[in-house]
Amino acid sequence: MSVLDVSVTYFDEVDSTNSLLKEMALKGAPCGTAVCAWKQTAGRGRLGRTFTSPEGGIYISMLLPFDETMLLTAKSAVAVRRAIEYSTDIRCDIKWVNDLEVRGRKVCGILAEAVGDKVVLGIGINLCTPVASFPPEIRETAASLYANPFVCDVDACDVVNAVVRNLCEILDEDRSHWLDEYRGASSLIGKTVNVIQASKVTGSGTVLSIDDNAALHVLDKDKGEMILSTGEVSVRLRH
Ligand code: BTN
Repeated sequence: MSVLDVSVTYFDEVDSTNSLLKEMALKGAPCGTAVCAWKQTAGRGRLGRTFTSPEGGIYISMLLPFDETMLLTAKSAVAVRRAIEYSTDIRCDIKWVNDLEVRGRKVCGILAEAVGDKVVLGIGINLCTPVASFPPEIRETAASLYANPFVCDVDACDVVNAVVRNLCEILDEDRSHWLDEYRGASSLIGKTVNVIQASKVTGSGTVLSIDDNAALHVLDKDKGEMILSTGEVSVRLRH
C-alpha cells in the first residue's frame, strides 16, 4: 500500500486525536501511526477554532513525514475525497483549501500540525452526525454524508481504512496528477468570494484559479490579483 507501516488505534472518546497523536509523536511514535475516535470532547479546527465532534462522526489523525505543509493539506483533501467516494459513493467538492463539501455544506475538515520533523494530519468527517448535534451557528453550513443515521449503511471502519490507504497512496503521487483532481473538484473557481484574513474582510472578487502551489488567485476590483496561500486566510462566499 505504501512505504509507511500503518497502525490504527481506535478510541471511543478522546479530547482531540491531533493532541493525542502529537503526544505520541513526541514520545517517538513513527510515521504511519494513526488514531481514530468516534467522539472528541475538545476537537480542534484551523485558525484556532473548535471542531464540533459528536458521535456519528469519524475523527482520525495520522502521523506523516514532513512535506511542504501548504501542499500536504491540499493533497490530503484529494485523498480523503477519494476515500469518501470509494467507501460511500458520495462525491464531495473541495472548498479551498481543504474543506470537503456536499451541496455547499461542509462535511469534512482537515488540520495539519507540524511536530518536529513530522506532521500530524487530522481529519474530521461528519458521517452520520445528527443535525441536532451541530451547534446552531453551524447548522446552516455543515452537513453529514448521511443526514439520517438510520440510513447510513456504511461501516465507519471501512471509511477509516479507505482514508488511511488513500493518504498513504497519495504521498508519492505526482503533483500534477492530484492537483488536476484538486482543481477539478474545487467549488470556488469562478465564484465571487470575500477574502478574510485575521477575521477581517481584506478583499473580494472572482476566483480565477488555483496555482501549482495550491494557492488561490482572486481578482479583486481594487487590489488586482490576490494570491492567497494556504493556512493564512479563509474565504467566504459573498451573499
Ligand atoms: C477545520 O475544518 O477547521 C479542521 C478540522 C479538523 C478536525 C480534525 S478531527 C480529527 C483531528 N483532531 C482534532 O482535534 N482536529 C482534527
